[in-house]
Amino acid sequence: MIEIKNLRKTYDGHEALKGISFNIREGEFYGLLGPNGAGKTTTISIMSSILEPDSGEVLINGKNITGDITEAKQLTGVVPQEIALYGDFSAFENLSFWGSLYNVPNRELKQRIENMLNLFGLYDRRHDKVKAYSGGMKRRINIAAALLHQPKIVFMDEPTVGIDPQSRNLIYEVIEQLHQEGMTIVYTTHYMEEAERFCDRIGIIDNGQIIEEGTLQELKSRSNLKEVIEVTYDKLEDTQAGEIISRWPGSSRKENKISFLLTDIQKELPGIVIKSSEIGVTINNIEIQRTNLETIFLNLTGKQLRD
Ligand SMILES: Nc1ncnc2c1ncn2[C@@H]1O[C@H](COP(=O)(O)OP(=O)(O)O)[C@@H](O)[C@H]1O
Ligand SMILES: [Mg+2]
Repeated sequence: MIEIKNLRKTYDGHEALKGISFNIREGEFYGLLGPNGAGKTTTISIMSSILEPDSGEVLINGKNITGDITEAKQLTGVVPQEIALYGDFSAFENLSFWGSLYNVPNRELKQRIENMLNLFGLYDRRHDKVKAYSGGMKRRINIAAALLHQPKIVFMDEPTVGIDPQSRNLIYEVIEQLHQEGMTIVYTTHYMEEAERFCDRIGIIDNGQIIEEGTLQELKSRSNLKEVIEVTYDKLEDTQAGEIISRWPGSSRKENKISFLLTDIQKELPGIVIKSSEIGVTINNIEIQRTNLETIFLNLTGKQLRD
């Protein structure tokens, strides 16, 4: 349904996308998972005709979106990372504006807006000015705006970043419902929990490239990872951390924590404990992690996915 072919984009000499290609099937919930700066917004902005690539193309139902974009615009809804609403207007007025921009028929507009306001739990606040809304409420309106013209495909760029848990859960419920109803969803995130929970397929993006792609099961079985343990130390000097990391290649440090990538935990754990006491660091906690997207990403890049 959507074909992304070899997208490249450079900003002021910085290569943000280095040839991104992937395909999305009809009705699929596709997740683009990667850390901040990986190129998620650049990719999804190109896919939704907000930004032009330097080269490469995006086809929706076989048609290039860079030509006549009117058809692509009717077919797709976009939830950008930056919130685009008029603070001095009410939720109802903002949605009316978006609806008319997307040619929602006038006789249907009011009903559709009311349905959206109900769906997103904002009906009672519909006449309040948007500037009085919380970040989470604004985000909900933003998503509602993208859905008003009943697109077949929706692009969402990190729609749950920086909002309250209640809004976040509501958004989760709505997108799950949309997915069940057959909508094609392209969703960027740096939260592996979201990718694990919702996505049919996941593309892992880092440094402007897709480094792995597949279902969660495929990613897990393809990764040769056995186990990861996370050791939290009481205090960890740079030199001490350096000594441990050089002894266990593939391990990485975050503050007082070191994540070790091990193939045989039974055999290797005692060595870690002994080495730690040799260099005089106190272990506060040892946690064994199952293989998940975080550990797969760590294994692929040597970096943590989280901020
Ligand atoms: N308008 C811009 N001007 C210059 N550099 C940019 C611009 N937008 C993004 N970048 C850079 O391109 C890279 C990818 O950014 P982005 O697509 O926003 O990543 P993500 O959404 O995954 O955090 C980053 O290094 C970012 O700093
Ligand atoms: Mg982004």
